[in-house]
Amino acid sequence: MAGNVNEILKKENFTKADIIELLLSRGEEKTLLFKKSAGIKEEYIGNKVWFRGLIEFSNVCGKDCLYCGIRKGNRNLVRYDLSDNEILEAASFAYKNRYGSIALQSGEIESTVSTNRIENLLKRIKDLSKGELGVTLSVGEQTPEVYMKWYEAGAHRYLLRVEATNEELYKKIHPDNPKHSFRRRLDCLKSLQDIGYQTGTGVMIGLPFQSYEDLAGDLLFMKEFNIDMCGMGPYIEHADTPLASHSEKLLPLTDRFDLTLKMIAIIRIMMKDINIVAATALQAIDPVGREKAIKIGANIIMPNITPGRYRDSYKLYNNKPCTDDSAEDCQNCLEARIGLADAEIIYGEWGDTAHYQKRRSGLKLF
Ligand code: 5AD
Ligand code: FES
Repeated sequence: MAGNVNEILKKENFTKADIIELLLSRGEEKTLLFKKSAGIKEEYIGNKVWFRGLIEFSNVCGKDCLYCGIRKGNRNLVRYDLSDNEILEAASFAYKNRYGSIALQSGEIESTVSTNRIENLLKRIKDLSKGELGVTLSVGEQTPEVYMKWYEAGAHRYLLRVEATNEELYKKIHPDNPKHSFRRRLDCLKSLQDIGYQTGTGVMIGLPFQSYEDLAGDLLFMKEFNIDMCGMGPYIEHADTPLASHSEKLLPLTDRFDLTLKMIAIIRIMMKDINIVAATALQAIDPVGREKAIKIGANIIMPNITPGRYRDSYKLYNNKPCTDDSAEDCQNCLEARIGLADAEIIYGEWGDTAHYQKRRSGLKLF
């Protein structure tokens, strides 16, 4: 059986059937997969990890995704919105501690007030860091004009997980209304890429109704779309959401974890030089989950630098780790952890991918 995986791993391009076989690999076969992806990371990226200081600046959300703990319909949490000064202080913390960049994340709000506020914050963050701090935005679906405004104000990366690329599955995990349109999700990703953002996407792994074929399709979509960054994590049910009522359909958490590592390994092999995040959700299942992801292919960690007192309210899923820590605690803990994974944190660099630079200059990609 391992012979088959061995043959697949020699190929230039994987078919859907190949990917499914890799996702199903166990024992010796699985070891081969992880060895291959670790080798590719070593060759194309090196043993390095870059930080994106994560500021979850507001949990106010206008949408109602059926899996998400901060969905509008959840009345069971305290809503918060950091002040501009709190956000700028968190950004200064990142700058002073030589994090190459930060990521601003919140629930999804489309309004002129919020657009202008984010534009202003971007300019002030650029000012306070003399243009040195890279900024990733992750604030959901917006019009191309809004994306353009923020790009011009200094954001250069955008994370918008597609969540599921099979439209049928997408519809099962979102309400059936125009506010949760699969088409718009794809259009948004396209406009981000056209504007010039380093564009990141990803999916949740182990969702109810999700098949191995769906997951293989997700990876082929990312390759086809030519993304620059990938953020994938295990789905973890949140008790106050509608999707939690399908918990009996779920794989055990340890299997979801294992499948996520395989997804990361396979995308590293398929897209050798992109940035891949070791998602925090991995650590909700395994105390050294993120380190395991770093070993087999991921190269980005997003330490949480949201002021501690708000963290408890940004619970997308149950058992979210590190919600009691301060930014300093997170950093010390991560340094020790990454050392354990034999990797080195690169401070003071944006950590742009060779992939993005090649894509921009029109060179042939992997
Ligand atoms: N389990 C795992 N990940 C989740 N997200 C939202 N809800 C959950 C959940 N229950 C992820 C989504 C979103 C990202 C910010 O968090 O993929 O894009
Ligand atoms: Fe907020 Fe999905 S629930 S964007």
